[in-house]
Amino acid sequence: MIGMRDFDEADAPALVSWVDGPAALVMWSGPTGFTWPLDRAQLARYAAKAGPGLRIWTFIDEEHPAEAVAHASLTVDPQGRTARLGRVLVDPAQRGRGIGAALVGAVQRVAFDDMGVHRLGLGVFAHNSTAVALYERLGFVREGLSREVVEVDGAWWSSIEMSMLDREWHGRGPGPGATTSTPGR
Ligand SMILES: CC(C)(COP(=O)(O)OP(=O)(O)OC[C@H]1O[C@@H](n2cnc3c(N)ncnc32)[C@H](O)[C@@H]1OP(=O)(O)O)[C@@H](O)C(=O)NCCC(=O)NCCS
Repeated sequence: MIGMRDFDEADAPALVSWVDGPAALVMWSGPTGFTWPLDRAQLARYAAKAGPGLRIWTFIDEEHPAEAVAHASLTVDPQGRTARLGRVLVDPAQRGRGIGAALVGAVQRVAFDDMGVHRLGLGVFAHNSTAVALYERLGFVREGLSREVVEVDGAWWSSIEMSMLDREWHGRGPGPGATTSTPGR
């Protein structure tokens, strides 16, 4: 089982080590926000923005709680009606074991069950087939394609907008992977 807690600056070295180049940085965080090389100073500025409008989480394997295995953030609008999942990243050494699915399921539970949002949205690069398949498996619906939003290594990347609505969430079962969550900011 995975657990989630607020991102702490002590998690920065692990996060830096999971992003192995400029393309991986954009794949993770989109065209804005961070610049290559990712470093602790950028992550400290990011962590300082956390609050009710920006939740930033570290995910841990509960059998090894000292070790971070993944990261994600959730932007919440001031009225708390809509939210956006972002910055989803699993330790490369831990991928393909269901952590991504458990993480997204945990954020869905926080957003829909705890916060009561109406809409949970996200953006994912169109060629990131693992992530697109993961989100679709967990109930996200494709809304449309934003064409050629960023150029990486001479290639233009397009982004798919996806969302899930509260009625779709409440029509489903408990979702993948039981998780625990601790209250945070
Ligand atoms: C996308 C990402 C978050 C997925 O994380 P993950 O932990 O590997 O996800 P999961 O293990 O839940 O599922 C991914 C794949 O593993 C498979 N899988 C799930 N559980 C598995 C298990 N126990 N054993 C083997 N494979 C498994 C899934 O079927 C899926 O396969 P597919 O890609 O062929 O469809 C991860 O690859 C990542 O961090 N990528 C870089 C950053 C990124 O792209 N972030 C998304 C930005 S929108």
